[in-house]
Amino acid sequence: MQPVHYPVMARDILANIPIDDTRPGVMIDCTLGEGGHTELFLESHPKLSVIGVDRDRTIQNRAVSRLEAFGSRFKAVNSWYDDFFEDFEGEACFILFDLGISTYHFELSQRGFSFLKDEELDMRLDVDADLTAFDVVNHYREEDLADLIYKYGEERYSRRIAQAICRERAKEPIRTSKALAYIIGGAVPVEYRNGRIHPATRTFQAIRIEVNNELGRIERALEGAIRHLEKNGYLAVISFHSLEDRPVKWLFRKHAGSDGPQDIRIITRHPLEPSEQEMAENSASHSAKLRIVQKI
Ligand SMILES: C[S@@+](CC[C@H](N)C(=O)[O-])C[C@H]1O[C@@H](n2cnc3c(N)ncnc32)[C@H](O)[C@@H]1O
Repeated sequence: MQPVHYPVMARDILANIPIDDTRPGVMIDCTLGEGGHTELFLESHPKLSVIGVDRDRTIQNRAVSRLEAFGSRFKAVNSWYDDFFEDFEGEACFILFDLGISTYHFELSQRGFSFLKDEELDMRLDVDADLTAFDVVNHYREEDLADLIYKYGEERYSRRIAQAICRERAKEPIRTSKALAYIIGGAVPVEYRNGRIHPATRTFQAIRIEVNNELGRIERALEGAIRHLEKNGYLAVISFHSLEDRPVKWLFRKHAGSDGPQDIRIITRHPLEPSEQEMAENSASHSAKLRIVQKI
């Protein structure tokens, strides 16, 4: 398979995470995706093995075939990352989170993540889960829709958009990403429609976060990760918007601060960001922030 997602800030992570190559170590890649970061670490550190966690079985299978050559040094686990740590019993020298979804989801999954495509509104990472984007768009009360678009999309036209969605769905159900994008485009002022980002960007992000409970899992997963880091082990988190970055920053501060357990040391006082060159070459890296802590 040809990967479509280019791993974000991969060289920065590799350069900033010292791995002891004299002894075997375990890395947990909590957001395996197509396995870009994992591949780089397996290639660079011959005694390292990786457990790759992802809830999306389809993308995980792509990583499994990509990483086949590493044999028993790589193991895939199909789980939400917060649930994973409840059952995991070992310790890791490095744990990585590369939050959100992958280029694969927008380009190839056919699950309606992209407002540029005409696909059924699904947006589930776990295709066995009950809640789909169709349910959110067609069955949530107008007020709840507006609130979630505001909260998870930071969309200032959330009320107008929710109102337009409810008006249209009263005529017939909204079934596709294209239909939804069209309704959103018609609900916002013209200047916004022709603005810097597509007018549906924030609403699509909000619906996806709701469907997968993305923000609700971060804190629990990071608590689990810190618990399962070996002494002097590293934890790195890449986030892509302030809603993701905020809980990461606060949890790290809480753990490192004098009122907290003081079980980690913050390595990146200010988050690292991609170089101009990476941003020019890889649009997925835009707005990425990398935070690293060390267990003490
Ligand atoms: C940004 S992509 C990771 C890309 C990967 N680092 C690479 O280089 O190919 C994030 C991945 O995490 C998965 N994911 C998102 N939230 C998750 C969660 N709460 N639990 C498990 N997997 C999750 C998504 O399915 C997606 O494949």
